[in-house]
Order: sequence, then structure tokens, then C-alpha cells
Amino acid sequence: LRSQSTSTEEPKTKRNLLDNASNLLTNFLSGGKIGSMPTAEGAVTDLFDRPLFFSLYDWFIEHGSVYKLAFGPKAFVVVSDPIVARHILRENAFSYDKGVLADILEPIMGKGLIPADLDTWKQRRRVIAPGFHSLYLEAMVKTFRNCSERTIVKFEKLLERESLRGGKAIELDLEAEFSSLALDIIGLGVFNYDFGSVTKESPVIKAVYGTLFEAEHRSTFYIPYWKFPLAKWIVPRQRKFYGDLKVINDCLDVLIRNAKETREETDVEKLQQRDYLNLKDASLLRFLVDMRGTDVDDRQLRDDLMTMLIAGHETTAAVLTWAVFFLAQNPSKMKKAQEEIDSVLGQDGPTYESIKKLEYTRLIAVESLRLFPQPPLLIRRSLKPDKLPGGYNGAKDGYAVPAGTDLFISVYNLHRSPYFWDNPNEFEPERFLVEKKSHVEGWAGFDPSRSPGALYPNEIIADFAFLPFGGGPRKCVGDQFALMESTVALAMLLQKFTVELKGSPDSVEQVTGATLHTKNGLWCKLQKSRPCAEQSSIAIDASWVPHTSTVRLHL
Ligand code: HEM
Repeated sequence: LRSQSTSTEEPKTKRNLLDNASNLLTNFLSGGKIGSMPTAEGAVTDLFDRPLFFSLYDWFIEHGSVYKLAFGPKAFVVVSDPIVARHILRENAFSYDKGVLADILEPIMGKGLIPADLDTWKQRRRVIAPGFHSLYLEAMVKTFRNCSERTIVKFEKLLERESLRGGKAIELDLEAEFSSLALDIIGLGVFNYDFGSVTKESPVIKAVYGTLFEAEHRSTFYIPYWKFPLAKWIVPRQRKFYGDLKVINDCLDVLIRNAKETREETDVEKLQQRDYLNLKDASLLRFLVDMRGTDVDDRQLRDDLMTMLIAGHETTAAVLTWAVFFLAQNPSKMKKAQEEIDSVLGQDGPTYESIKKLEYTRLIAVESLRLFPQPPLLIRRSLKPDKLPGGYNGAKDGYAVPAGTDLFISVYNLHRSPYFWDNPNEFEPERFLVEKKSHVEGWAGFDPSRSPGALYPNEIIADFAFLPFGGGPRKCVGDQFALMESTVALAMLLQKFTVELKGSPDSVEQVTGATLHTKNGLWCKLQKSRPCAEQSSIAIDASWVPHTSTVRLHL
């Protein structure tokens, strides 16, 4: 790790000539306005040795809450400061766009909400956000429960087989299992399509993973090779990628056509009052197609669906993966959660109402997101010159940033900042129950009463020191969906099983792309150790088959 606290006025003698020249160029191009920031210099090895955000953390501790990261000819401003993050994400949100992120995601998500230009974003956000209303979420809890039950039944069958051989535990890669579960849930919730990936493989499932893999690869590969002319036809991984995209797009096109053919146009208020628990199709696609006065072409709808498929799949799977990773290292916390689950649920499955009583289980999901936020960085580019406010340990007067500056808001640094959290690296779900007075001018402290009725701690409660779903107008639309999904899946797993890691925690290597995941899977030992879990299956119909659309693909 080569990290130096420098300013352009005092170049360090040992700096290599190339870096030096590129820094000067960067400062020249930026008009010298961010030249006075502390500068961390990244070596190319920082990109490959370990996930970048680990180095960003070390530099944060060394250089303060706003610093410049120079990588050859490229410079990024790294923000680890809630006051500056609040300014960029909320107070001056429309002076920024998604910059590098949009470049990477546009070929996959088109004009979906994440990479969309401002005009498209305004139109689509107005239509999509109301789709996540409370009756929809209530119906989704039923879907979360039914899908989780399929996973649990699968584990039970494996355990049964193992017990015939005299074994008491099964070994599984839980990361892969959570990924399948989250894919099934997002398919049903967003476009009423049952991938069925917990129990089978299919060309569409393979295509989704292929696309995710490419999105991941692009976000860690610093040369945009996909933009080279003819790459689409010549580079094998690009040919495969476009093949995968076609498979998914064909599937989505059929779903959109089916939804449009059965359209029942109505006002948004009436849509939100439908009998969701008994609807054959409670999906977001149904909502978007049926909403009066919002006709859009199929291409836009497809981009919307693709965006939510990608945004809502691996992120939620990662919450579950890391929650189990931490619980397995903290058996007393796992036991505490199991006691809560037993006392709230008994043998029943979770419901929309019972989630409200599963406080500790909810906080486990939130604490998993604090320690391993998905994604660990938020990416922005300034559209016009801006003045960042003075941070708590950055320059007191703040910094002027020119148009075109690339910024990383390091959510990982914010969530593990020793300035805002006690024992920041420890897994302590109960921390969110404690109010914390502010010791920093301009930061309002940690106060759960600021967001009355919120089921889960959020950025408002923590005044932007906690940003698992971003903040401001571009905050995640699926936050409650994802948190309830995580709570239901965790509760149902712990209701039946006790989990141990197969190897040591250190053997679980982390790799990062858009989300943070393991290098070789989260291998765990599962056993039914509690008397409560030995009894008959949860009172849910395990042979449940959703009312999904049929899609015929010509592959
Ligand atoms: C945006 C995190 C689940 C859909 C975001 C952002 C974050 C985030 C941090 C803001 C990005 C930024 O400001 O640059 C997460 C996490 C999830 C999750 C941690 C799971 C635990 C979901 C789900 C859906 C979804 C389930 C949809 C069903 C979206 C969309 C946006 C977004 C559409 C773009 C919003 C906009 O720009 O208006 N998400 N997300 N996310 N998320 Fe999520």
C-alpha cells in the first residue's frame, strides 16, 4: 500500500514520475480547485491485491474525511463524512449524476432508474416509487415466506437423507442458496415470473447470472473494453454477454406483452387499494402497466424491470450471507434471535404483522448492512461546479469541486467510522436501540425518534452516518422490500436450523464488485439442534406453486 499525505504544493520526492505528472495534469484539468485536498496515491496493486474499499478506509483514517485519490491520470474525491454525503445526496442532489456507474450500467439497464438521465429518472421514479405501497409489501411478505419455505424444505430433505446415513449436519454454500432464493423472490415480486432457481437450473437463470457476472466484472475493470468498436462481435465474453442479455430481454418482452394484453387501466389510488393478498399477480409490472396515464414503450418498461432485477437480487442475497457469517461467529446472538423467533412465531411462518415484533432479527439484517454495505461505495459525478461543505475532520471551509469531478461516497467508511460508532468493527445489532448525542457541529447525532414509525433504522435517524440505501431523491426504492425479505428469510432459517461456519472466519475471503461477496462461497454446517425445530414443518403449504406467467422462449 503506497499512501502518502501530500498536497500539490509539496510533492514528495519519492513519488514516481508518472504519478507525479498525472497528478499535475489532474490538478491542471480541475483548475486546481481540489488541489488543496489531502491526496492519497493509489498504486495499481491496490486495485488487485484486495478490495479497493479496504484501502479507501486506511486512507480515510490517514487523510481525513474528504480526500483526493489519484490513480495515474485519474482522480476521485473520496467522501467519508455524513455532512458532505448529505450535501451531495440530498441538499444538492441534482448537481450530480451517476458518472462512472452510469457508463458501466447503461448497456445493461438502459434508461432504468439507476443509470437514467435526470429527465427520464424524474418521470419513471414518479411512477415506480408508488408501486412499493404497504399492501404490495404485505403481499410480498407472503411471497418471501413461500419462497423461503421452498429453501427450508430443500435443506430439510438434505438433512433427512444425511440422517439416514447417521449424520446430524449438512454442509452447504449458503451464499449460493441465498442467491437462488433472492432471485426467485425478485422475479415474482417485480414481474410475477417464477425462476424456480432454488430447485432447478434454466437458460434464463444462467443468463441472469452471466449478466450479473459481467456487470460485476465491468465495475472492477478499469478500462471500458466493452466500448471498443466491434468488441460486441469479436471479444468472446462480450458475445456471451449480449447472448445472455437477449435471453433475459426476450423473457421480459413476453412478460410485458402478456401484462399489456391483460391491462386493466385505473388510477394510482385505486391500484394501491386492490386486494393484493388475493391477487393472482401482485407484481410491480402489473402495477406499472395498469396505472392510468403512464403509457410507456416496452423498451422503457424492460429497462425498469431489468434494473430492479439486478438491483434487488445480489444485494439482498449479500445481506443474508453476511448476517449468517456474523451470527455463526456469535452463537449467543444467534441464540438470542432464535429465542425471539420462537416466542413471536412459535411454529408459524412470519407475517407482515409479526415482522413488527421481530425486533432483534430486523436489527441483525441492518447490522449486516452496516458492516458490509451493498454497494460499499456510492458513485457520483458533478454536473456543475459545487462547493462541498466543511466536514468534521476535513478542511473546515470545505472544498470547491469543478464540474466533471468524480466522487466516491464511501458508505463502508461511514459505517465503520470510529468518529461515529462505538466498536465500529464489532457485530452488535443492539447498537441501533441506543440514542447517541452529536459531538460534531453540523451532524445531528443518532436519534431513532427522528423517523417515527420506521421499522428499520435509516439515514434520517443517523443523519447520514448510516446510508445502507443511499439517501435523498435517489434513495433505493426497494429498501423496505429488501429488509422485510431479509427478516423473513433469516427468521425462517433460524427457526429451523443452527448454523456454524465450516472453516475459520478468516478463510472466508471477500471480493467486491457491485456488491461484496465471498471468493469461494459461505460454506456452513446446518443442523436442527433445538427441540422446537425438531417438530413438524412450519405451517405453510410447502407444495405452493405461484400463479405466474408462462413464458415460452425460443432458445
Ligand atoms: C438504488 C441499495 C434492494 C431497486 C439503491 C441505492 C442503494 C441501494 C445504496 C442508491 C444508489 C445511489 O444512490 O447511487 C440496496 C440494497 C438492497 C437493495 C442494500 C438490498 C438489501 C433493492 C430492491 C430493489 C431495488 C429489492 C427493487 C425491487 C433500486 C432502484 C434504485 C436503487 C430502482 C435506483 C433508485 C433511483 O435512482 O431512483 N439501492 N438496494 N433495490 N435500488 Fe436498491
